[in-house]
Amino acid sequence: MDLGLSGRVAVVTAASKGLGRASALALAAEGARVLVSARSADLLADLVGEVGAAGGEAHAVVGDMTDPAVPQRLVEAALERWGRLDVVVGNAGGPPSGRALDVDDDALRAAFETNALASVRLARAAVPHLVEGGWGRVVFVASASVKQPIPDLALSNTARTALWAWTKTAAADVAARGVTINLVCPGLHATDRLLERGVPAGARTGTPEDFGKVVAFLCSEPAAFVNGTAVAVDGGATLGLL
Ligand SMILES: NC(=O)c1ccc[n+]([C@@H]2O[C@H](COP(=O)([O-])OP(=O)(O)OC[C@H]3O[C@@H](n4cnc5c(N)ncnc54)[C@H](OP(=O)(O)O)[C@@H]3O)[C@@H](O)[C@H]2O)c1
Repeated sequence: MDLGLSGRVAVVTAASKGLGRASALALAAEGARVLVSARSADLLADLVGEVGAAGGEAHAVVGDMTDPAVPQRLVEAALERWGRLDVVVGNAGGPPSGRALDVDDDALRAAFETNALASVRLARAAVPHLVEGGWGRVVFVASASVKQPIPDLALSNTARTALWAWTKTAAADVAARGVTINLVCPGLHATDRLLERGVPAGARTGTPEDFGKVVAFLCSEPAAFVNGTAVAVDGGATLGLL
């Protein structure tokens, strides 16, 4: 299947490691030019080198997604470099763990900034350009916790569900204009984040590479009628019917 991504321009945030990095590599493997961002310049340089060695094109912009100015800056950098923008993949680091009754206002605000507002800002900066081109894909990396809350990740559960509600609402507004906005919801994947949290006994984990391919599909031409959904990529681990 041709994903129709050749020559398209994508911005992928939190792309220096793990799921963001794998998403950028999957898009580049389909011929997209990728602007990758995160805080670690050295890891981003490695990624740009890897894409280039495989015959693709990538460009790194160092930035912290909790800085409200960064999403707009990334969109402008892609437009400046390649003169177009077609795809944005909004990803960010996960919040610390904590039970619902233990997390305070400051922790909730910080999680909302990183795991909801940063992605909303990215979409707000990008969507006018996507609409102008009559085609676009926005994919946010969230978590399977939007379908089945994880007991010790109250901050993640709360902030990501807000992003999910925003996504669903925004998707209806862009549906007639060739643009889709979806959430992709990882279950357990073998990344540094998971190593920090620990793998529950007997749990099955996915690979970042497989996750990246699902992101690339949601960003593709054939996924045109997939809009306003939260796609679980969890090997069937989430127990829930929605
Ligand atoms: N892996 C899993 O099993 C799993 C499951 C459910 C949900 N998730 C969620 O999926 C997302 C990606 O997870 P992962 O496993 O790929 O994590 P990871 O391997 O720890 O990578 C996190 C990425 O986020 C970047 N990042 C962190 N804070 C940032 C900031 N303030 N601004 C810009 N970039 C930032 C990091 O780069 P720098 O340090 O260079 O900035 C890194 O590239 C997270 O939100 C995580 O909670 C993961």
